[in-house]
Amino acid sequence: MCGIVGYIGYREAYPIIIKGLHRLEYRGYDSAGIALYDKDLKVYKKAGKVSDLENFVKDIEMHGSIGMGHTRWATHGAPSDRNSHPHSSGNRKLTIIHNGIIENYGPIKETLIAKGHIFKSDTDTEVLIHLVEHIQNETGLDLREAVRVALTKVIGAYAIVIMSADEPDLLIAARKGSPMVIGVGEGEYFIASDATPIVEYTKNVIYLNDNEVAYIRRGDLLIKNIDNTVVQTPYIQELDLKLEMLEKGGYDHFMLKEIYEQPRSIRDCMRGRIYPQQGKVQLGGIKEYTEKLKNIDRIIIVACGTSWHAGLVGEYLIEEYARVPVEVEYASEFRYRNPIITEKDLVIAISQSGETADTMAAIELAKEKGATIFGICNVVGASIPRTTHAGVYTHAGPEIGVASTKAFTAQVTVLTLMAFYIAQQRGRITQSKLVEHLTELNTIPELVERALKSNDHIKEIAAKFKDSTNCLFLGRGSSFPVALEGALKLKEISYIHAEGYPAAEMKHGPIALIDDEMPVVFIATKDSSYEKVISNIQEVKARKGHVIAIVTEGDTQVKGMADYVIEIPQTDEAFVPLLATIPLQLLAYHIAVMRGCNVDQPRNLAKSVTVE
Ligand code: G6P
Repeated sequence: MCGIVGYIGYREAYPIIIKGLHRLEYRGYDSAGIALYDKDLKVYKKAGKVSDLENFVKDIEMHGSIGMGHTRWATHGAPSDRNSHPHSSGNRKLTIIHNGIIENYGPIKETLIAKGHIFKSDTDTEVLIHLVEHIQNETGLDLREAVRVALTKVIGAYAIVIMSADEPDLLIAARKGSPMVIGVGEGEYFIASDATPIVEYTKNVIYLNDNEVAYIRRGDLLIKNIDNTVVQTPYIQELDLKLEMLEKGGYDHFMLKEIYEQPRSIRDCMRGRIYPQQGKVQLGGIKEYTEKLKNIDRIIIVACGTSWHAGLVGEYLIEEYARVPVEVEYASEFRYRNPIITEKDLVIAISQSGETADTMAAIELAKEKGATIFGICNVVGASIPRTTHAGVYTHAGPEIGVASTKAFTAQVTVLTLMAFYIAQQRGRITQSKLVEHLTELNTIPELVERALKSNDHIKEIAAKFKDSTNCLFLGRGSSFPVALEGALKLKEISYIHAEGYPAAEMKHGPIALIDDEMPVVFIATKDSSYEKVISNIQEVKARKGHVIAIVTEGDTQVKGMADYVIEIPQTDEAFVPLLATIPLQLLAYHIAVMRGCNVDQPRNLAKSVTVE
């Protein structure tokens, strides 16, 4: 949430910053702003999208080879011009962009007001830059020191960049709890919330760690810890990211591109990890913990949003195959209970971005209590994979659409692999069964490809239901989390109220909602709960609901009952979630497009939630 980009070097900064803001817009898009140094410190900001900011400055000569930009997801203060970043100090000599929340901004603001500071916005961020100014005035410290001292006084999370009119060849960047990457070029540096704005200029990056402050000049980078000790030879990593991964590649939306990428992303996720003929799963990232896996008592999965849904699918798979008890927790709830965790627990944190604040906090808590922590993340080098003891990357490639699609199926794929891996280590599955399952799993990318072929048919169904106000999604077993995910996709991007429910629970509440206006989407594939789901479909039909059923290819029974069916290929019951999710993603996508919604940037949402 909130995207940050900065540049210092020899090129014009404006085009780099604007392009970077477009790349980061998935992180927040309710206002945007930019600061450039061109003989003086200049700040331009505007409520709305990055394109509104571009429009706003289109007649202004934007020059300068040092600058920074921000795209906002509002926390403190409604989206408006005055709450947009950058925020400036009272003397207008300093300006800041910030991602995160300064939790103790209230008392600091009161103290500063008492000292005569006047604030122009409702944000916590403005308080921080006034605090820096105040420290400079009171103590005479230079800017570097004043920023460092100010940061020791704030509680909360931040990634910040500061520019000063008095030191026009200096960018100061710092992080605690919010991501920040520095791109290292020849005589130039780039700063960003993630590597996407940097990759076209350099592949060499430094991931700033918590409590580090970077002082960046054109040919010179100094990183210090907040306690003022110097970070010796910061670790420069090479990015494994290609520019085309960040473009729409001919699709109308990133979401559609990402839906269509799933045969590839699932394949990439399995690559080098399964050996069907040998009945072997190999997960290098957690290999060191193989012995530990033999002795764990319980697995706790922590995650948020779509990742939590993947966790629920994982629960079915791990309990079914590895026979280890699994609990799936919302990270945001887990951290505020007093959960019972022991050294014999394995905690698996799932996160596409690897930056979600609640998931990070849940990890810290479980770590304190002695549990072993694995991560399942998509973004390589993000905070979560750097905090966990071990983990498995999903390798789905950058996911730009705010509604998660390919990351979900990749997470489910990794959980499937983990379930078999743990089962194999604990002797819970026979070699012949593993050969059978892995052989089938290996075909899933082609089956996903086949499921995608229903796109036109799904579009026709979408046209029938695009004006609905409510929608129910029902499934049983591991199709229940798929129903939850289908409902989440629809509500996120089309703003239709949608609920996912276990099909059998419908009669305890949601059935009251069913009338001749209500579409009900069933996952009714031929698996162990098929007959039961058929009864649930009849209950809906008896109340005149409209049934859209996801069925196994060739099904005739449900076809006779449902108003619309969407076929997916026959597969092993364990892998149905990987296929059944596809039509639900497409249904949500088409409905949202037909309703004229901004599919890639749905209102109020952000891709990566780095605040509580
Ligand atoms: C946000 C995103 C969701 C995502 C959730 C968890 O709400 O909009 O798509 O599922 O965060 O994010 P994570 O990066 O931890 O998977």
